Amino acid sequence: MKFDTKVVRAKIKPDSDTGAIIPPIYQTATYVLDEVGKDKGFDYTRSANPTRQILEENLAAIEGGKYGICFASGMAAIDSCLKLLKSGDHVVCSDDVYGGVSRYFNNVLNKYGLSFTYVDTSRPEKVRKAITLKTKMLWIETPTNPLLKVTDLKAMGKIAKKYNLYYAVDSTFATPVFLRPLEFGVDIVVHSTTKYISGHNQLIGGIIITNRQDISKAMKFIQKTIGAVPSPFDCWLTLLGVKTLSLRMQRHDANGRIVAEFLENHPKVARVSYPGLSSHPQHQIAKKQMSGFGGMISFELKGGISAGKHLMNNVKLCLLAESLGAVETMITHPATMTHAEVPKKERLARGLTDGLVRISVGIEDPDDIVKDLKQALKKA
Ligand SMILES: Cc1ncc(COP(=O)(O)O)c(C=O)c1O
Repeated sequence: MKFDTKVVRAKIKPDSDTGAIIPPIYQTATYVLDEVGKDKGFDYTRSANPTRQILEENLAAIEGGKYGICFASGMAAIDSCLKLLKSGDHVVCSDDVYGGVSRYFNNVLNKYGLSFTYVDTSRPEKVRKAITLKTKMLWIETPTNPLLKVTDLKAMGKIAKKYNLYYAVDSTFATPVFLRPLEFGVDIVVHSTTKYISGHNQLIGGIIITNRQDISKAMKFIQKTIGAVPSPFDCWLTLLGVKTLSLRMQRHDANGRIVAEFLENHPKVARVSYPGLSSHPQHQIAKKQMSGFGGMISFELKGGISAGKHLMNNVKLCLLAESLGAVETMITHPATMTHAEVPKKERLARGLTDGLVRISVGIEDPDDIVKDLKQALKKA
C-alpha cells in the first residue's frame, strides 16, 4: 500500500458481523469469557479494547512501525516512555520542548531521581557534550514547540547508538505525513494525537509507536497497569480524523508557506520561524528529512509584547486559543499560555520572549487568514 492509501485504509476492515464500513465503538468495560482461561483476545478495556486496537494498528502502520500503544493524552504517552528509566538515570532533552514536558520533567520526575539536561539538539556537538555515564535517553522534539527548531535525526541516531541510549522523538508537529522518525533509527515516536492526527479539536489523546518488541511490551504493561487509556469513543473519533490526515496536512503545509512568507515580508514583523523559509537556521536539514513543513509558525513583532498582544486581541478569523494542529487557525501567546509555567529566566534564555506569537495555520482559504492577520497587524 502506498502512504496515502495506508492513511485511509491500513488495518481497517469492514466489521465481520455486519459489514459496517467504519469500525464500531466497543463501549464496554469488560468481556465474557468462553470458559475459564479462554477469552476472545479481550478481557478488560484497560488492557485492550477492539476500537483502540484498530487505532493502534492503523497509526503504527502509517508511521511505519510494528507496534502502537495509545494513551489518554500526549502527556500520558510521554510519561509512559519515561517509565523505561529508573532513579539515577539522566536524560538529554531538546531545550525548546513543549512547556508541559519540561514542567513534568522538572517538577515531577526529578522527585523520583531522574535528571535532565536541556540542550539545543539542532547542535549535535552540544548533545555529545551533555552525555554522562548516567545518560540513558535522548528526548528530541522536532520541529519544536514553539520555536520550530529542527533536529538532524540521522546525526542524533549516531549519538544514540554510540552511547546505547533510548532514542525518543516527539513528532507531533510533523506527523507521519511529513516525517517518519523510525526511518532514521529512532526507537520511540510519540504523538499528541490531540493535534493534527485527530485534527478537529475534538479530543485529547496520545500514542507511542515503536519497532522494538521490548519497548512495546514495556509500554503495553504500563498502559494496562496505570490505565491512562483513551475512551473507545475518543479512539473512534481519532480514527475518523486520521482518514483525512494526509489531505489536511497538504493544506496546512500550503497555507503555512503562504502565511510564513506574508509575515516575513511584513514591515511590523521582526522575525519569523518556519522550517520552510530559507531564513530558518535548519532549513536544509528540514528539507532533507521532511517532505513538508506543516502549518506551525512562530514570530515576533517589532513592537514586542504590546504589539503582539494587540495583534492577538484583534484577530477575528484566527482563534485565540491554546493547542494546535486543528482545521481552524489558532493563535497563541506562548509566554502566558502554553509555556506559562516555564520560569521566566529559563524562558528568555531559550529565546521564548514575551513578544513571541505562535500560529497554527488551519485549512481555511489562505486569503482569509492573511486578510485577518493584515487587519490585526494594522492595529498592532
Ligand atoms: C509537541 C507536543 N507534545 C506533547 C504535547 C502534550 O499533548 P497533550 O496535550 O495531548 O497531552 C503537546 C501539547 O501541546 C505538544 O505540543
